[in-house]
Amino acid sequence: MSVFLALLVLSVTIFGLFLKYRHGFWQRRGIPHEVPSFPMGDFKEWRTTKGFFEIIGPIYKKYKGTAPFAGMFLVFRPVALILDMDLVKNILIKDFNNFRDRGVFSNQRDDPLTGHLFALDGTKWRDLRQKLTSVFSSGKMKYMYPTIIKVAEDFRKVLEEKQATAVGGVIEMSELLSRFTADVIGVCAFGIDCNCLHDPQAEFVSMCKRAVIERRHNKFIDSLMEGAPKLARTLRMRQLPQEVHDFYMGIVHKTIEYREQNNMKRNDLMDLLLELKNKSDKNFAITINDIAAQAFVFLIAGLETSSTTMGFALYELAKNQAIQDKLRGEISDVLERHNNEYTYEAMQNMRYLDQVFSETLRKYPIVPHLVREAQADYKTKDPKFIIEKDMMIIVPVYQIQHDPEYFPDPEKFDPERFTEAEIHKRPACTWLPFGDGPRNCI
Ligand code: HEM
Repeated sequence: MSVFLALLVLSVTIFGLFLKYRHGFWQRRGIPHEVPSFPMGDFKEWRTTKGFFEIIGPIYKKYKGTAPFAGMFLVFRPVALILDMDLVKNILIKDFNNFRDRGVFSNQRDDPLTGHLFALDGTKWRDLRQKLTSVFSSGKMKYMYPTIIKVAEDFRKVLEEKQATAVGGVIEMSELLSRFTADVIGVCAFGIDCNCLHDPQAEFVSMCKRAVIERRHNKFIDSLMEGAPKLARTLRMRQLPQEVHDFYMGIVHKTIEYREQNNMKRNDLMDLLLELKNKSDKNFAITINDIAAQAFVFLIAGLETSSTTMGFALYELAKNQAIQDKLRGEISDVLERHNNEYTYEAMQNMRYLDQVFSETLRKYPIVPHLVREAQADYKTKDPKFIIEKDMMIIVPVYQIQHDPEYFPDPEKFDPERFTEAEIHKRPACTWLPFGDGPRNCI
């Protein structure tokens, strides 16, 4: 017992000394940074009282204009917070080959649902992205469009029922939008009618919320896993709660089994993923676990993002009657020209609708920062500022999109910022709700 205790004390001491040394990383290089707290670095309040973007905000404001990037720490991992717009463009687009990876946790072997496009890196990511990009081509989207419209019609019926019984005309929209989006993704990605619109308790949507919010381990261990993803993978650690894993794996296995046995086609993402599996060869092979992970990422990357965006758009439209009237006018005009049918082509002609959503995503970027990892040391314009190999990089989307230098009066909701002429006046990479470059949102 005493040997065990001595070893424990020794390990904690070594870890503490290591952390202290690591926390001197930016100091030794003369890079501007805040004093890190022990042991969480700059992220002490993360996931408890503050979101990522609230932690980044004051640092961006303090150092922007004085340096290409500022230093931060995610536990012991040095993080470069990018402050210069040319550097943002170089990282995301021009020098993408050095910043292809995100370097976040993924463990295909032990936690197969984490083997998805968002978390994979290297050639695995490149090959899969190439194949999946074809799944998301506009032709394929058009093909899937009637399936989405069917769910939208269901949504309208549910909304009309709610409206008839709403007390004081008030309807809780964010919950309803979440259930609507879950039904769309359920039918398109998993190939199942999960009935979330009609059943508020549907397990599909509640499991998805758990997948986004819950982790297998506590905040400290989870942050260590994100701080050292390669080590966590070597130690065969897992991130997703077991129940979430079993639920989504179960759905995908059952769906695939049913489709293969009944030779069934539904014009959805699952069909397209199955096609990829059946075309697997020695250069590119996709397994059932890979299919499950991709269907899963469409859910976690698509549900909260899409439903929350719709929620914010409705909120701003409710507050801005003139914008609402203008948008309604455009929709009516376009629909009239398309036999009052909400077709794919009709939607493509709704230019102002696009502006409204662009402004919604500017003011409320659902993914408030982008993450990359450097593959090799990278020199910036200032020779003192080197982004070192394996360093984590954060592009502060929320701060850029709220920076008065690029968007004057940033708290004002103004879709006119997104006319062609206005877009061309702004520097590249100042609107990043879907990221940019080859690793942007699919
Ligand atoms: C309003 C809705 C959405 C927003 C705001 C959004 C935003 C984003 C952002 C910011 C990224 C990271 C981009 C980067 O690092 O440069 C991303 C990646 C991704 N998104 Fe979306 N997304 C949305 C909807 C969707 C939907 C509906 C799907 C799928 C059905 C999806 C699938 C993905 C995937 C697979 C990735 C990873 C791409 C890769 O690493 O190659 N997203 N998304």
